[in-house]
Amino acid sequence: MTAIVITGGTDGMGRALARTYLDRGDTVVIVGRDPAKAATLPDAHFIRADLSLVAENRRVIEEINERYPAVRALVLCARYFRSTRFVTAEGFEGTFALDYLSRFLLSHGLDRPRVIVNVSGPAPGIPAGRIRWNDLMLERGYDGVAAQMQAGRANDLLGVAFARRHAAGPTRYVLINPGPVSTSFAGEYDAATAAHVAGLKRYGAPVDDGIKPIIARVDAPPAEPLSAFLPDARISLDNPSFVPGDAGRLDDLTRRLLRSRDN
Ligand SMILES: NC(=O)c1ccc[n+]([C@@H]2O[C@H](COP(=O)([O-])OP(=O)(O)OC[C@H]3O[C@@H](n4cnc5c(N)ncnc54)[C@H](OP(=O)(O)O)[C@@H]3O)[C@@H](O)[C@H]2O)c1
Repeated sequence: MTAIVITGGTDGMGRALARTYLDRGDTVVIVGRDPAKAATLPDAHFIRADLSLVAENRRVIEEINERYPAVRALVLCARYFRSTRFVTAEGFEGTFALDYLSRFLLSHGLDRPRVIVNVSGPAPGIPAGRIRWNDLMLERGYDGVAAQMQAGRANDLLGVAFARRHAAGPTRYVLINPGPVSTSFAGEYDAATAAHVAGLKRYGAPVDDGIKPIIARVDAPPAEPLSAFLPDARISLDNPSFVPGDAGRLDDLTRRLLRSRDN
């Protein structure tokens, strides 16, 4: 039995993707925190988890690898915006933990999915955000948008490092920036950001349109180990967001952070 695993599958694009594949008769595993939202997809397999915690990601990985040995697609959609800095019980900055570290753990931890679609923010020609190499946890001058942008860039680099490490394996890694899509935009916003988000909700694409590029890549994964799209057009990997040296540096740093948490 092959399964499609969707983080953030309880809401927004993740939920719409789950509905699409359930309607096709697929086995769909959704991961999120809210059982009430999950109950709106009664035919999905719900794993309740706070993916901003490393321990929870590891529990989810163990459960999926045990119960669903053949994962056709892992789609990474969980996110949560915070205008005010938040630190998880494990000591990681919240956006880094949920929007990037969880995706790192799941990407490397699930047993060889056919395709991993990391729904994030790659953009052509410009780095999606800046990695604060000396302040990864954003202790100095936190800004919610900068935190989200850092996570977006980190996901681009995760794709590069993953594809290098697993180039000979069966998994194809796909980065997709869906562009503005009218979803729930889960988060806690200050007034200025809330006004901006209200605009995005008004003018963003309908969710059913926003998920089309994702469905296309899940159904027919690109041949290359790594590819990136905005939303349906290919982005060249020959741009500053995908510098291999930065990808290796972030990969090392992430593994060191995880080791220091484990000790
Ligand atoms: N919407 C856009 O315009 C846009 C633009 C560019 C990129 N993206 C990317 O597209 C992806 C999907 O975005 P969306 O707008 O569809 O999301 P959304 O509507 O805001 O939904 C976010 C999802 O994340 C889950 N979530 C939040 N915190 C969680 C936690 N701690 N642990 C586990 N799950 C958690 C929520 O479920 P629970 O409430 O059940 O926890 C929900 O299912 C994201 O990666 C986003 O960065 C979106």
